[in-house]
Amino acid sequence: MLISPSILASDFSRLADEVKSIENAGADLVHIDVMDGMFVPNLTLGAPVIKCLKSKTALPFDVHLMIEEPVRYIEDFAAAGADIITFHIEAAKDIDATVNKIISCGCKPAISLKPATPAEAVFPYIDRLYMVLVMTVEPGFGGQSFMADMMPKVKEIREEINRRGLDTHIQVDGGIDGNTITQVVKNGADVIVAGSYVFKAADRSVPIKTLREKGESYE
Ligand code: DX5
Ligand code: ZN
Repeated sequence: MLISPSILASDFSRLADEVKSIENAGADLVHIDVMDGMFVPNLTLGAPVIKCLKSKTALPFDVHLMIEEPVRYIEDFAAAGADIITFHIEAAKDIDATVNKIISCGCKPAISLKPATPAEAVFPYIDRLYMVLVMTVEPGFGGQSFMADMMPKVKEIREEINRRGLDTHIQVDGGIDGNTITQVVKNGADVIVAGSYVFKAADRSVPIKTLREKGESYE
């Protein structure tokens, strides 16, 4: 299981310190939410900020693109230091070309599904993916309530991955905390994003430890 705290809930005026705090607290990845005000009704940050952050941490960068036609910016994000690049299947015209672009830039490709998008949508691409992201809230904002009705989708994708003998990861993102962690792991998720749950704690090692202990007891 990998834990990827989302810096969306951090203090952006102290971004380097915030990332250092989760690194010291035992995070495996850092989840960076990129929003364009088009695909989702919110704006966050882009490649220049990611580039500045890269030298401040050894954590791999898990970049979640919530932008229209992501293929246009893959090179920029790869050059800025992205390790995993996740894009939304609903936002890309040519899914294969987008996956190819991520791979050719030396990054690990992942596809994300909004709550209304069914599991089957990702099956044609699943063999080539490092990870599938199942959104457990509508993308756009941190601090929303976890959608437990996404659990059958996580299970369906896990079963398909196992049936094909793949080692593709399943990430969940939105409303994950010390309670909801149990059901996501039980249904087959193994990369856990948590924003407000991690960053609202003064000591980030406490929520990270809780997620790891509760999650790993179900693996
Ligand atoms: C929402 C983002 C999430 C968000 C999660 O669009 O993709 O990564 O930061 O925040 P929490 O954990 O607070 O729901
Ligand atoms: Zn995210």
